[in-house]
Amino acid sequence: MAATSLSETFCSEGCSQGRRLLAPAFQATYESGSKAGLGLTERLKITKPDDWHLHLRDGAMLEAVLPHTAKHFARAIIMPNLVRPVVTATDAAAYRERIMAALPEGADFTPLMTLYLTESTQPDDIAAAFDDGVATAVKLYPAGATTNSASGVRDIAKVYAVLERMAEIGMPLCVHGEVTDSAVDIFDREAVFIERVLHPLRTRIPELRIVMEHVTTKDGIDYVRQSQKNLAATLTVHHLMINRNALFRGGIRPHYFCLPIAKREVHRLALREAAVSGDARFFLGTDSAPHPDHDKETACGCAGCFTAANALSCLAYVFEEEGALDRLEGFVSHFGPDWYGLPRNEEAITLVKRDKPVGYVPKIEAGGERVTVFDPEVPLCWEVV
Ligand code: DOR
Ligand code: ZN
Repeated sequence: MAATSLSETFCSEGCSQGRRLLAPAFQATYESGSKAGLGLTERLKITKPDDWHLHLRDGAMLEAVLPHTAKHFARAIIMPNLVRPVVTATDAAAYRERIMAALPEGADFTPLMTLYLTESTQPDDIAAAFDDGVATAVKLYPAGATTNSASGVRDIAKVYAVLERMAEIGMPLCVHGEVTDSAVDIFDREAVFIERVLHPLRTRIPELRIVMEHVTTKDGIDYVRQSQKNLAATLTVHHLMINRNALFRGGIRPHYFCLPIAKREVHRLALREAAVSGDARFFLGTDSAPHPDHDKETACGCAGCFTAANALSCLAYVFEEEGALDRLEGFVSHFGPDWYGLPRNEEAITLVKRDKPVGYVPKIEAGGERVTVFDPEVPLCWEVV
């Protein structure tokens, strides 16, 4: 099939003129899978994916969102930033139980737990949780960086002993890479974190295996690329699809607000380039982060995009747009387990491209509250069957 302007692929259903304002995605060209090196674009069978960064919450929210992930993903790294954070092995084991109990009948899904790093975390406790298989990784939140991060780390020096121990035992550190210094512009906080915190940390403890979570800048991509070892990065669905203009298009758009905040277009393009590059240091971590609508649509709204429901459709859209459908499997299914030293999944999923956009529910219900599903405002035609 010849390359076609994406705007010509719009159908009449739900693709209003206003939707074109997320401009960059629309100006690219759409290429068929045969151009991407695949014989067939209409069906794409890939190893079942995993999500290497996921917020499931607890209680009614957990019950509402978990089925969406369990439907398409075999495993996920579960973020520990509950209202009462998951700090100890006991917390993680109990949370894992609650997740397992909330799984729909017959679902085959493995939560990989993380521990929330505090300045009081003890090296022995972390090591025991890793040895016992209760925790897969530790999460570093700079205190105040994002949702429920108040118990995070203020002074990185206070957790060096824990990090040194993790390096010894090969336990990965997942990092929310933003400084919290209010004097630093919000759009620069990732780049400044690399300079002030991450690079000094990696120089001090080079054997520590680190995942820079939800990288949002070209600076982050370049930093990972330049690294020799022990550094990888997750990329989210939403940061591959929107830039910062989306937040203010026609008015303030709280459902596009997440942290790290979406950046300029040049950064989004760098993330896309990395995602489709086949470089195994970049893999999927959706950072799907549900909040009730009333906490998003308010004077001081929470950060987070709920993407679990249509993540794979969005990614197939992105990879197809980049002429790289043949690289989707590496990004969503291979590179993550390879980095974590876990086996790749044996099951497969199939994505089918419909000739009309698939109608995703705009909102889900959680304990009587509504949660908005990420809407990239492009026609999503790929569907997991
Ligand atoms: O947008 C975000 N939401 N970024 C985070 O780092 C946390 C997450 C959440 O928990 O809501
Ligand atoms: Zn997150």
